[in-house]
Amino acid sequence: MPVTTPVPNGLPMERTAGPFDPPREISALRDSRPVSPLNFPDGHQGWLVTGYEAVRRLLADTRFSSRLDIGILHVPYEIPGMPTPTEPSPQIPGMFVAMDPPDHTRLRRKLIGTFTVHRMRQLEEHIVAIVEAQLDEMSRLTPPVDLVRAFALPVPSLVICELLGVPYADRETFQADFARFMVKEQPLEEKMGAYIALNTYLGELVTAKRAAPGEDILSDLARQEDLGIDELTGIAFLLLLAGHETTANMLSLGTFALLEHPEQLAALRADPNLLPDAVEELMRYLSVADIFYRYATEDIELCGETIPQGSTVVVSLLAANHDPLRYDDPDTLNLHRTARGHLSFGHGIHQCLGAQLARLEMRAGFGSLLRRFPSLTLAVPAAEVPLRTDMNIYGVHELPVTWDTTVH
Ligand code: HEM
Repeated sequence: MPVTTPVPNGLPMERTAGPFDPPREISALRDSRPVSPLNFPDGHQGWLVTGYEAVRRLLADTRFSSRLDIGILHVPYEIPGMPTPTEPSPQIPGMFVAMDPPDHTRLRRKLIGTFTVHRMRQLEEHIVAIVEAQLDEMSRLTPPVDLVRAFALPVPSLVICELLGVPYADRETFQADFARFMVKEQPLEEKMGAYIALNTYLGELVTAKRAAPGEDILSDLARQEDLGIDELTGIAFLLLLAGHETTANMLSLGTFALLEHPEQLAALRADPNLLPDAVEELMRYLSVADIFYRYATEDIELCGETIPQGSTVVVSLLAANHDPLRYDDPDTLNLHRTARGHLSFGHGIHQCLGAQLARLEMRAGFGSLLRRFPSLTLAVPAAEVPLRTDMNIYGVHELPVTWDTTVH
């Protein structure tokens, strides 16, 4: 490996090159040193993994612990009010995305039957109905309309609320709390405030379900007496958060990307059979869930570098998905390519549990939106669309769109 590659200070992760392009620094680093040391803002040194092969290997290797996962409250560098963790953080009950085997295995197993391809296929018609009803509502609005509020956020929220048995009527409150929780750089009190509010709300919900279970996933879990209320609360938190934030951003940023690539959009409109491949390519190209954290439990050799025991390791799925060694012309959106093998749902034991559900929602969502709104366009110049560079999950804060009302 070339020793001349400078060690980056902090994460060069802001997507400043354009709304869809990976940061230039991260692409350059991946191409020169795909497993690289990294200086954290508080001065301690960790590692940054950006090459496709290296990321895939790392995610499959359980010697890299997930107990530093940023998804929740753990950040391996200082944020105001929080000490720097130098060893695995205590586990949050139920939050199995940030656990290792055997704890992770025990909890994930409880949900495996729930999210199978088969179970999700049975839901397909219902998801299509939810999408169509939301588009009926949107078509009654007078454009311009914010696609995030009118479509991209409601669809996955309605679906996950119904599956989990969370009242959709409570969405204004819990979505605002999740939004506060997902801001990247902010004082710990803010993040903790949002976290406590969500925990209180979901704790009360699962307690009620344990007392009087209904027909939904959280009730099914609540019937299992070996799960404590704190574990049920953590699982509810994880599923509700993962179930709507990611998919909502894929629907809105994906629509933005299609509108900005008219030839690709025309190809998709002309051939709806392209939809499954198009969804995979949009997942790869956009990689809305980009940064994940791991912790080396021993000295580990990874693609020619030795990561010392105790290191915090940052993984960039975006950089890996744009690796020219894996995909030709990776920074180009090409709906005809086979993007299978992308890492946007992760890989290994933590691979996304909701991947099949998310795929169904995206196929139904993009398919119906494009069919029902053939004249859909941006209502503002692309440069004015507010990007979520400040949030843990990338996307757009708003997507103002318009259409020709005489066609509807
Ligand atoms: C895990 C991405 C939708 C539930 C993950 C991971 C990624 C990911 C990258 C791996 C995390 C890691 O290795 O630390 C996405 C994207 C989605 C999406 C991009 C949408 C386009 C969903 C949905 C659900 C969900 C709809 C609904 C339940 C989960 C859960 C985990 C997970 C529970 C943790 C799995 C484990 O630790 O075993 N997701 N996800 N996700 N996702 Fe998703």
